[in-house]
Amino acid sequence: MKQARAYISSLGMYVPENRVTNDDLSQILDTSDAWIRDRTGIRERRFVEPGQATSDLAFMAAKRCLERAGVSADEVELIIVATVTPDMMFPATACLVQRQLGATGAWGFDLSGACSGFLYALSVGTQFIESGRHRKVLVIGADVMSSIVDPKDRATRVLFGDGAGAVLLEPWEGPSDEANRENASEPAHAEPIGIIDSLMRIDGGGGEYLHMPAGGSRLPPSRETVEQRQHYVKQDGRSVFKFAVKEMADVALKILQRNGYSGSDVGLFVPHQANVRIIKAAADRLKLRDEQVAITIDRYANTTAATIPICLCEYHDAGKLAVGDLVVLASFGSGFTWGSTLMRWGMKS
Ligand code: ACO
Repeated sequence: MKQARAYISSLGMYVPENRVTNDDLSQILDTSDAWIRDRTGIRERRFVEPGQATSDLAFMAAKRCLERAGVSADEVELIIVATVTPDMMFPATACLVQRQLGATGAWGFDLSGACSGFLYALSVGTQFIESGRHRKVLVIGADVMSSIVDPKDRATRVLFGDGAGAVLLEPWEGPSDEANRENASEPAHAEPIGIIDSLMRIDGGGGEYLHMPAGGSRLPPSRETVEQRQHYVKQDGRSVFKFAVKEMADVALKILQRNGYSGSDVGLFVPHQANVRIIKAAADRLKLRDEQVAITIDRYANTTAATIPICLCEYHDAGKLAVGDLVVLASFGSGFTWGSTLMRWGMKS
């Protein structure tokens, strides 16, 4: 039975210090700042230093998230790390983050959903709060894409960056809706705070368009796989683009409609940041104004599982998210995986 609605009670993010501009990449690849900006909206991205791994970024984001909440690590009950670039095949990155945090009361696991990984993980974490099983769940999206993108392939190298974002999920126990309405300092809203709905999809038929062929059990590492550069991301950009434009907009529209909303009700639309043209196409379908749409791709590029929590963190810290705002998250990624989450924002700025 549903105990309480889950809500995001805290946020944290971390990106490596090493800023790599389009001009930096055009020194080593046959590309240009104009092409990258025009085709993707990206100006720069962050890459890790040698030796820095996904768990290091995830740990920093999680630490900042817990510090902001005033929650100590040993209060955390579950850690879910969404990533396609774990430090190693096993143990799970969640184990490494648990150890660095000192989260002595937690269990946890990794979740592989590529660019939809954070939304999948948020949906899983929400179930544990709603069921009453847990009261503090850390959901982290973290990727070091620079470790799996071919440095010699201009078609993928320019698109990705490294980063991490973390959110804390807790049961909403704030004032009731009536009390909110009576409180003049906060906007009236029709529903209580928290995660209202999630709509997740998967279609394995999309695997051939975006994948990393080697390094797993199908093609274990060998001299040949390395020589053939099969440990790097392979993408048919045009095909992925076509699916992403359609499916990300469709799923966001559907979650709004089935909850009785339209684009005009949305406070902030937070799409996965893969290409500003995909984001704009989705925003147009939802009939959103520019100020309703979160964009960070210009500074961080596509950080895979980290884009959505990074957006939430930046927009919250900039005072662009208010208690009671209707927030729509949407993603599309390798798999294909895609989905959307609808929530009423509950964190005070
Ligand atoms: N610099 C200059 N030229 C380039 C570059 C570059 N960095 N990359 C490709 N080109 C060239 C191509 O070689 C091609 O040249 P050609 O016409 O002579 O063959 C030309 O530019 C156009 O290539 P397209 O692939 O048609 O370019 P498009 O406009 O489709 O943009 C892009 C490519 C940016 C990859 C786009 O297709 C895209 O964003 N796709 C979706 C990516 C995505 O959403 N991924 C999913 C999430 S990631 C995840 O899940 C891990």
